[in-house]
Amino acid sequence: MQAAGLTKRRFLRLAALGTASAFVAAACSPAAPPAATQAPAAAKPTEAPAAAAKPTQPAAAAAGATPTPIGGGKFTAPAVTAPAGYKQATGKLEIFSWWTSGGEVEALDYLYADYRTLNPQSEVINSAITGGTASGGNMKAVLQTRMMGGDAPESFQIHLGHELIDNHVIAGRMEPLDELYASEGWDKVFPKGLIEIASYQGKPWSVPVNIHRANVLWYNKQMFADVGVTEAPKTWDAFFDVGEKLKAKGQPLIGVAESSPGFWAHVTETILISQLGADGYRGLFTGTTKWDDKRVADALNISAKALDYANKDFTSVSWGDINDLMVGGKVASIIQGDWTPGVLWSKGFNDFGWAPAPGNAGIYDMLSDSFGLPMGVKNRDAAINWLKVCGSKHAQEGFNFYKGSIPARTDADFSQYTPYHKDAAKDWSTNQLVPSIVHGAAAKDSFNVDYQTAINVLATKKDVAAAQSALVKAAKDADFRA
Ligand code: GAL
Repeated sequence: MQAAGLTKRRFLRLAALGTASAFVAAACSPAAPPAATQAPAAAKPTEAPAAAAKPTQPAAAAAGATPTPIGGGKFTAPAVTAPAGYKQATGKLEIFSWWTSGGEVEALDYLYADYRTLNPQSEVINSAITGGTASGGNMKAVLQTRMMGGDAPESFQIHLGHELIDNHVIAGRMEPLDELYASEGWDKVFPKGLIEIASYQGKPWSVPVNIHRANVLWYNKQMFADVGVTEAPKTWDAFFDVGEKLKAKGQPLIGVAESSPGFWAHVTETILISQLGADGYRGLFTGTTKWDDKRVADALNISAKALDYANKDFTSVSWGDINDLMVGGKVASIIQGDWTPGVLWSKGFNDFGWAPAPGNAGIYDMLSDSFGLPMGVKNRDAAINWLKVCGSKHAQEGFNFYKGSIPARTDADFSQYTPYHKDAAKDWSTNQLVPSIVHGAAAKDSFNVDYQTAINVLATKKDVAAAQSALVKAAKDADFRA
């Protein structure tokens, strides 16, 4: 616990330096090309993921996993080739994730395509599981059972940092990846701050495939334009003004999916950022900002008020349905991470605008998806080759194009990327960085669970004082100390 706390503090200290430069500066340049992914001059251009053989889908995982057309276009790249001496894996490679939505599927398929090209004798078992509380609840529950039962998949999606460390590393169920980081040159191409987040007791435990931004307002341009709004509101008051205009037409301003805890906790995280600023928000997890602070109460009041502008059935809508509400003109906006454009493109919906969530300009609420190596997997060679793909330049460029996030590597080529990606990359390098609570970056997992529960109760009961007391208790239990 102590060392995980140190990791958190190191992250907060790096983030406190002000911008991603704290992360990026330490990453040496230019990066050495990754061993497994150098493309020779003669490589034949291929389109991925269309060129990818379809991974095997177990019955339980199939829901929602059909690749769909991409509004953002197709990513093209020379086919990946193996470097001299590459040891191909054979046998099965089972991968867990909760990536079953449009954009997510195409992105994951891009990783699988690279793996399969490099390891043609190995069979990919795509054990993606949809749904559940917050991000990946159902998958995490099945994963936990498999890990405890000594039947781990070769690798699994997990948020970089606390989520992996608190749930699996401290329990001794993962292998450290320091040797792989060294042999693949990742300690030179991943930002130092990201490696710090991935580390426990001085060693990294997973491979980051991306950097997502959580604090983005996505809006249906036509619905905003129909009430005379052509620019995203910059404050919560301005946001509620738009809400009043929409209310007059019987339209909800903001889509909410709170059939289980998590969604509103995510939105409320952005409200906390807006009221506390980057330093004040970071201080919530070190004890320098108290959870009984008046600004926290202000944020919770805004959170409760925002629900007056939500879809009325929000307690029965699930996270996976939220994008359809906006695409179908049933809600005018959502506050979500930048996996959203991937989903919207996959639905052929391009008429959306984006901006930092109200009051969040200049602050990047970040999280990173990663893959790790469980102890005692059945096919370790396949797992290692999978992780090499995850960390490679070739795979990260294609993966993030579809996912909506930006590559974790500092040497990625952005020339094919969309205006959204480029905007995010600019903000990533200039904004203040803060860690997401709901997506496993800010604090220990037990706090995340308590936080999501408290905000879920707030969403149904609208009792701000009770929510704040629950959060004060959760912070005490988590032992956030300055
Ligand atoms: C996040 C995850 C993203 C995306 C999102 C969907 O936790 O980091 O990659 O899958 O959940 O809700």
